[in-house]
Amino acid sequence: MNQKRADKADGDARAGIAFALDRVGHSRGGVAVLSDLTLAIRRCKMTAVIGPSGSGKTSLLRLLNRLEDPVSGSIALFDRDLRAYPVRELRRRVAFVFQSPVMFEGSIADNLLAASRLRKANDTPKTSELDLLLESVDIDPSIKERDARGLSGGEKQRVALARALASRPEVLLLDEPTAALDVESAEHLMTMLARLRTTQRLTMVMVTHRLGEALAVGDDLVLLEGGSIVEAGSVDEMRHAPRAARTRQFMQSAHEASP
Ligand SMILES: Nc1ncnc2c1ncn2[C@@H]1O[C@H](COP(=O)(O)OP(=O)(O)O)[C@@H](O)[C@H]1O
Ligand SMILES: [Mg+2]
Repeated sequence: MNQKRADKADGDARAGIAFALDRVGHSRGGVAVLSDLTLAIRRCKMTAVIGPSGSGKTSLLRLLNRLEDPVSGSIALFDRDLRAYPVRELRRRVAFVFQSPVMFEGSIADNLLAASRLRKANDTPKTSELDLLLESVDIDPSIKERDARGLSGGEKQRVALARALASRPEVLLLDEPTAALDVESAEHLMTMLARLRTTQRLTMVMVTHRLGEALAVGDDLVLLEGGSIVEAGSVDEMRHAPRAARTRQFMQSAHEASP
């Protein structure tokens, strides 16, 4: 292959990548929490990050929209160093959904209008966009004036998700979004995430302690342990043909703990 064609092939391959981590290391208070992470996170796919408690899952997610910066290595998003993005722009494009949804005081609509882009679009009284957002997370727009703090846990998490989507992000980072939910609400959220990924062409990186969730909605899996990647690959590979013995063990024990 000549150089031009090789460059093009390289560029095409990269076009399918959202985040590229190169030998990323991170520490807190002098203690290493992540080491030597080299990883490609595919665009418009759901990557599920799994691993035992304390393995560095949340730390990894926090690096991806610069809630923290790694102490070594580099991270690129869409082929551009993360530090080259103005932080506000980065946080708009890469939204974070936390484990426990925090509702601001006021109605469901108020909570969505906290996203500035929607507030600006709100000049038209019908605000069909707000209704569409609520519909996209299975909340009936007719209840939008209800007090957000009175909602169930599952509804709050869906409003939080709609709020994150209001700024039209390209990437959603989700840190154990179902941890505080009952099984039924958790399944509902997963169904919605799978749908949103397809309809809105979102790249999602989701930390979960529920292996069943990761296998059901993930395209790719990353298994972390002790701040290092044990194995990363497609869900199918990791499930049926794991390269690391540790992956097989983890899958087995996690499956037994929560089938
Ligand atoms: N604020 C902090 N200060 C010091 N160490 C921390 C802090 N937060 C997390 N850690 C440590 O970093 C490691 C990774 O934590 P974390 O990323 O939260 O793991 P996970 O999300 O997989 O449970 C753990 O050993 C944890 O004790
Ligand atoms: Mg965590």
